[in-house]
This record gives sequence, structure tokens and C-alpha cells, in this order.
Amino acid sequence: MRLHRKYGSNQAIINHCRTVAKVVDVLAEEFSRQGKYIDREAASEGGLLHDIGRSRVQTVRHGLEGSLILEGEGVDEKVVQIVRRHVGAGISAEEAKKLGLPDFDYVPRTREEIIVCFADKMVDAERVRPFVEEVKRFAAKGHDVERLLALKSGLEADLGTDPEALVLHKIKGTE
Ligand SMILES: [Fe+2]
Repeated sequence: MRLHRKYGSNQAIINHCRTVAKVVDVLAEEFSRQGKYIDREAASEGGLLHDIGRSRVQTVRHGLEGSLILEGEGVDEKVVQIVRRHVGAGISAEEAKKLGLPDFDYVPRTREEIIVCFADKMVDAERVRPFVEEVKRFAAKGHDVERLLALKSGLEADLGTDPEALVLHKIKGTE
């Protein structure tokens, strides 16, 4: 929160980040419960800070901008990568080039990176909503729906259960 304040995030960004972090915590807890390793602190921090770059820019660059802010603040490299890789369902090297983004890896790969990216796709502003709504939004914008579906199915395979059903079940009634 100190960093959000320092960089001038508005309340809507902060509220969105808090809700995403809540979803992240549900998923991280399930990995832990199953005895599967996850850095819950890094995941949670990544959720809380993932949109800090929106204090500077509203485009796809906000992931990169956020990561640079956090790098400058000496934040854990794991958290920096979570923030850099949360945009869309990941940005391929080829797309990053087209978008004029510097040569970094923008694809979520670790459990922590994947659950923050996925959690973000389940939260519209402050509302946790069904994943299919994001799929429709992706399709309407001409984004790569297959990659979005692969994000979910990859997480489901790793988690051994449907992450969407888990989140909707656990968060329901707590809003
Ligand atoms: Fe974002």
C-alpha cells in the first residue's frame, strides 16, 4: 500500500489489486494444502502490486512499467516478474516485439506468476466473475482466446482441480 500511495495509484486500482490478491490467496492456499510448493508471500504481494504500473500508463505496457517501479524499489525479483508477466494471458516474444516492448519474457511460467495472471482474469474491477466473461472479452477484442484457455487448463492440470470453481466457491458470500 505504501508503494501504491507513493506512485499515486487511484482507489479503483488499489481495490482491484486487493480483490485479485484475495483470489490469489485462495489458489495459493490450495497448492499449499496439497503439499505443492508455492511462495505464498510473493504470490500475494504480486497480486497486491500487479497493476501499480497503471499509475503511469493504461496500455499493455503497464506490466513492464510496474515491474520497473518495483525493481527500482528493490522489491523481490519474484514479485517483479509476476508483475511483468501478468498482462493478457502472457505476451509472446513476437508480440512484444510488435508492441515495441523491450526484450523481456512476458509469459507467466511459475506457479506464482500463473495464479496472479489467472486471478486477474477472474476479476473485473472489484468483482469476481466467471472466467467465461473474460473469454468473451478477449474474443471481442480479437485477442488470443486459445492462449487464455490454455492458461486456465494449465493451471487446472497443475492444481488437480478446476481453479475457477474453487475461487467462485471460496469467494462467494465474502464480497
Ligand atoms: Fe493489469
